[in-house]
Amino acid sequence: MSQLVDSWGRKITYLRVSITDRCNYRCIYCQPEKHFNFIPHPEILRYEEIIEIINEAVDLGVTKVRITGGEPLIRKGIIDFIKKLKKIKRLEDISLTTNGYFLTEYAEKLKNAGLKRVNISLDSLQKDKYSQITQGGDLEKALKGIDSAILAGLLPIKINTVLIRGINDEEVENFVKLALERPLCIRFIELMPSLEEIIDNYKDKFISGLDIKENLAKKYSFNPIKTDSDNGPAKYYQIEGGKGTIGFITALSQHFCQTCNRIRLTSEGKIRPCLFSNQEIDLKKALREVGNRGEDQILRRKVIRNKIELAVKLKPKGHKIKEGISNSLSFKMSRVGG
Ligand code: 5AD
Ligand code: SF4
Repeated sequence: MSQLVDSWGRKITYLRVSITDRCNYRCIYCQPEKHFNFIPHPEILRYEEIIEIINEAVDLGVTKVRITGGEPLIRKGIIDFIKKLKKIKRLEDISLTTNGYFLTEYAEKLKNAGLKRVNISLDSLQKDKYSQITQGGDLEKALKGIDSAILAGLLPIKINTVLIRGINDEEVENFVKLALERPLCIRFIELMPSLEEIIDNYKDKFISGLDIKENLAKKYSFNPIKTDSDNGPAKYYQIEGGKGTIGFITALSQHFCQTCNRIRLTSEGKIRPCLFSNQEIDLKKALREVGNRGEDQILRRKVIRNKIELAVKLKPKGHKIKEGISNSLSFKMSRVGG
């Protein structure tokens, strides 16, 4: 059995795949423009290509795949795609990140197709604020989507809450209360300077997860939950008497590069070794240069493996972006896969 290991000795076991850059929402930190320039359809990886790539990645030692976007549930054929993923032996964990809008319709189908769990973006518990942040989103739909996911058993459910000072920071305690009442893991995520629009007054908008934690600790009693480093970058806590948990993703204030186990496949077929570096390896281009007849299959596999191995080799040791920096990374999270 192979195991991808990068130049710094980290095992790469986790692949995040953005299957579309399109979304029914326009979150202010993700797709702020009204006229977002989406990738033309022919440039987006086809499902068959994605499956081929994941097959090789799993052969090379990847055991976890997360499907993201954009909003992955707006891509047609998602259920059949998950069913095909489920057939890949040695792929232990298939999860998906969604804004929740379509979960009332999809949760059970996803579960039956073989999806293990979902992460749901939820940045506000107030109707108007939610609509403001998502630029037209429907809080009620997201909350019903969460209910459907719980009912379908897509567990554990993680809620992604990106905190922005002056916008939703006064809701932190309401989210904690939600974690007390419901079996959810609420994860407070630091705002990343991915786009030009965000870096405008970024210092004023950024809130450190460490500060939030310190403030909460004055009022609530919570205990760290032991997880293996495989469980992702968040640190989790059990709040006394609560059904759920809370977590902090401090990508900037306290980065976790030394335990990073992931690479990304962008919607247009590039492998991105590090979220915070714009270096990408064009896998789609190389793959589409090879034929797709019976005799081409070996070469196709080889091309994919070479590109994955190259990307892993190029994975940087870490990022040096600090909270409150003034230059943007300038990448679209929806394309890259948040
Ligand atoms: N900062 C932090 N998180 C972001 N996401 C998208 N853009 C950003 C950003 N600038 C994440 C959110 C969302 C997921 C789809 O992508 O966590 O839940
Ligand atoms: Fe869509 Fe999620 Fe981006 Fe919001 S953060 S625009 S819901 S992909």
